Amino acid sequence: MKKISSIFITFIFATFSVSSLANSEGEAMYSALGCASCHGANGRSSDDSIPSLAGKDVDWIVQQLEYFQSGERQNAYMNAMAPMAEGFERSIAEYLSIQDPQK
Ligand code: HEC
Repeated sequence: MKKISSIFITFIFATFSVSSLANSEGEAMYSALGCASCHGANGRSSDDSIPSLAGKDVDWIVQQLEYFQSGERQNAYMNAMAPMAEGFERSIAEYLSIQDPQK
C-alpha cells in the first residue's frame, strides 16, 4: 500500500511538473518571439487592430497558427510570425489560454 501511494504521488508530481514546464516554455517563447510586442503582455492587446489572445481556446490558437503557416489564413504580420512559432504552437497556446482576458 505504501508503495502504491508513493507511485501515485510521483505520478501527480510528474504531471504537475510537465504542465508547469509547458506553461513556462510557452510564456518564454511568447516573449522571446516578440508576440507580446503586438498582442500585449499576457495576451491582452491594447491596440484595437490586434486581437487579444488571453483566455482563447488552446486548439483554436494552434489551428490559427497552422492556418497562418500554411497561408490558408492571410495576414502579412502573422504569415511572417507563425512559422517562427513552429514546434511551440501548443505550449504558447496553453500559456495564452490560461491568461485572464480581463486584466
Ligand atoms: C507585428 C505584429 C504581430 C506580431 C509580432 C504577432 N502577431 Fe499575431 N496577429 C497580429 C495581427 C494584426 C493579427 C490579426 C490578423 C488578422 O486580422 O487576420 C494577429 C492574429 C493572431 C492570431 C489569431 C487571433 C484571432 O483573433 O484571429 C493568433 C493566434 C496570433 N496572432 C498569435 C501570434 C503569436 C503566437 C505570435 C508570436 C509567434 C504573434 N501572433 C505575433 C499581429 C502580430
